[in-house]
Amino acid sequence: MSGEQSPKRVAVIIGSTRSNRICDGIARWTVRAAQAESSLQYAFIDLAEVNLPFLDEPLKPAIGRYEHEHTRSWSRLVSSFDAFVLVFPQYNWGYPAPMKNALDFLYLEWHDKPVGVVTYGTRGGGTDAWGTSGSPHAGCRPERRTVYHRC
Ligand SMILES: Cc1cc2nc3c(=O)[nH]c(=O)nc-3n(C[C@H](O)[C@H](O)[C@H](O)COP(=O)(O)O)c2cc1C
Repeated sequence: MSGEQSPKRVAVIIGSTRSNRICDGIARWTVRAAQAESSLQYAFIDLAEVNLPFLDEPLKPAIGRYEHEHTRSWSRLVSSFDAFVLVFPQYNWGYPAPMKNALDFLYLEWHDKPVGVVTYGTRGGGTDAWGTSGSPHAGCRPERRTVYHRC
């Protein structure tokens, strides 16, 4: 038995879907900073590419029985990661609707997995963006090292 474990996989979720967003640049910066101090394996999930509709499942996500292929595909993708870093701007003192929608679609896929947050904004610097949203979300486990950036 080798005892070697494959490195934990972390998804860095790009939470702004605007055409001229700065979120993707901040997500790349996040991965560079994280790689400098850990050997975890990072990959991006771009919510603009995932392109989910507004939540349209008839049953609540905690049941885990999905009617739509887009939900099953999102479920497979999220399930393939061990932890997440959510990167998103502050919009109107909260977090972006596509980010919440993507979280709301699933439940067990997030459950008890560590989640870090990198958030930013022009005024509040993102400090309210996550806190006002009533974390923990979908049973995930928020980490204490949240990064706020004023742009
Ligand atoms: C709809 C909207 C609401 C915003 N609300 C806030 C806010 O409440 N606080 C803040 O600091 N910045 C706010 N901003 C500024 C954004 O944080 C800033 O434009 C940021 O670059 C947006 O990120 P993005 O370019 O990755 O989409 C808002 C921007 C938009 C488009």
